[in-house]
Amino acid sequence: METLDRETLDRETFCADAFRDEWEGVWNALRDGVATRKSPFHTFTLATVNEEGEPDARTVILRGADETERVIACQGDIRSPKFRQIRLHSTVVAVLYSVPDKRQIRLRGSAEIRHEDTHTEARWSRMYPMSREVYRTPFAPGELLSGDSSQISDPVPLEQAYHHFATIQIKITEIDTLFLSADGHRRTRFDCSTGHPITAHRIAP
Ligand SMILES: Cc1cc2nc3c(=O)[nH]c(=O)nc-3n(C[C@H](O)[C@H](O)[C@H](O)COP(=O)(O)O)c2cc1C
Repeated sequence: METLDRETLDRETFCADAFRDEWEGVWNALRDGVATRKSPFHTFTLATVNEEGEPDARTVILRGADETERVIACQGDIRSPKFRQIRLHSTVVAVLYSVPDKRQIRLRGSAEIRHEDTHTEARWSRMYPMSREVYRTPFAPGELLSGDSSQISDPVPLEQAYHHFATIQIKITEIDTLFLSADGHRRTRFDCSTGHPITAHRIAP
């Protein structure tokens, strides 16, 4: 077992450390996923536990990756089932995979919903007008529709649409990375559950 202490080890002492490179690689990939629409990490699968205790999962866009806080973020319509599920079971898993990099990143964490607060106000005000439009639907995601139109009928005013908007902040407790390689797959687990220091283990792929 090796222990990585982000607080006390500076860049010079870290850079020879294979785990350090992997840790940085994960966060670089996540930051790129937020910033670059074409990045394979721009979307991820967010897995939750539903009201019946069964698994649920869906694709969402990666909206934030904060290495210092060890938080990733996404956003959506507060009326959608995932928000109800997270209120009941805050433990979630996020899975990302890059085909060109042959790299899987699996993140386990605790999800926190932000709704109608200064954080969501700031994010809403920075959103492209087009992106706000989806929140104008009067129908909750998953609700049965009588017609088969994909258009939003009877959109609610934008001020009301804001109340549908929410974010999910996932405080990461564990990172599991897997590189596929002809020379042998490499898998590492970072445990961030206790804050500093982070512990890193090479584990069997
Ligand atoms: C490429 C892609 C990106 C998506 N991004 C989001 C997103 O950022 N937020 C979101 O709530 N739903 C997003 N969705 C829709 C979800 O996958 C899902 O269908 C919807 O949110 C309802 O999920 P739920 O019923 O599990 O709450 C996306 C779907 C696709 C295919």
